Amino acid sequence: MIYRLGDFQFPSAPEQLYPETPQRPWVLEVGFGDGRFWPHYARTFAEVPNYLGVELSGVSLLKANRWLKAAGLTNAVLTKLPAEVLVREVIPHGALDEIVVNFPDPWPKAGHEDHRLLRAPFFQLAASRLKPGGAVLLTTDHDEYFEFACEQAAASGVMRTELTQPPAAALETKYALKWRDLGLSPRHARFVPTAHPAVPSSGYAPFPADPEDPAVPHSIVQLPDSFDPQTFSKHTAVHPRGAWTVVLLDLYASLRRSDHGRSWVALAHVEEGGLTQEVLIDVTAREDGSTLVRLSRFSGPIITPGVKAAVGVLTDVLAGLGAEVRHRGY
Ligand SMILES: C[S@@+](CC[C@H](N)C(=O)[O-])C[C@H]1O[C@@H](n2cnc3c(N)ncnc32)[C@H](O)[C@@H]1O
Repeated sequence: MIYRLGDFQFPSAPEQLYPETPQRPWVLEVGFGDGRFWPHYARTFAEVPNYLGVELSGVSLLKANRWLKAAGLTNAVLTKLPAEVLVREVIPHGALDEIVVNFPDPWPKAGHEDHRLLRAPFFQLAASRLKPGGAVLLTTDHDEYFEFACEQAAASGVMRTELTQPPAAALETKYALKWRDLGLSPRHARFVPTAHPAVPSSGYAPFPADPEDPAVPHSIVQLPDSFDPQTFSKHTAVHPRGAWTVVLLDLYASLRRSDHGRSWVALAHVEEGGLTQEVLIDVTAREDGSTLVRLSRFSGPIITPGVKAAVGVLTDVLAGLGAEVRHRGY
């Protein structure tokens, strides 16, 4: 089954994702590519563990879904997200048995190490989400990345490295076969947590069922009679410690009519912790002459610190254009 970010809870318990089999072990595969690892690996268990696969590529997601269906693997969820976001925001603490990483992108150029997944902060996050006795399983053909990952695991202070043989299924993936054809042999490590640090999530929440729920980030402002949307211009705001970046891109006349006066919709680009969302914020005239600024459900947003900040940034921009802020609900 394919899940969008908005289908998850933050965190998501196995009972939500696998209602028929919540007690089974839980395996996360990062960067599953065309998805052929899991059907091979699942077969090696007497009882098929619950599976969560995370990928950046939408094409891979569709291919992998076909493999899962063909193999009849029902307690399996695929999603298109950066792995770091999924692990931090969706996985409960101490919930996973294994995190499998087969042939991660090596980012071989000097100076590109920051793009690599298996760095000390990820190992700390992984240790916080793994059960005691759980492990991160790495298989790669790339010697330099392998050494790098082992160094980073040691630097994390929470992982012990065991050098072992890879599971046979890891040698049947698309990249495994590609490297085998080139005569390269893969290396494998199990990174076992020696501690389970409490790495916090950022506090994401799904958009409430009722769009008028006060949990939807909003504010109430009084626009001056002279308010002219033409004076609005692109505006960027950055969290002081870099937690989010908000870019207010535009303010359009709204197609949705308000009976009470002029209405607009702002387009905002929000980046935070590896996640990017394009959100709309409605700016709607109210009966009492004030104006409601509220996150729209239109683009299916998740309520995150960055999205709340976007409503705040727009409110402040309107204040800079002469609005009086009456209420801040974000
Ligand atoms: C070299 S391919 C390996 C694919 C597959 N594991 C295999 O062995 O055939 C690496 C995959 O990791 C995915 N990927 C890279 N960074 C990722 C991230 N941060 N989160 C999720 N997937 C990621 C890429 O989209 C790509 O499909």
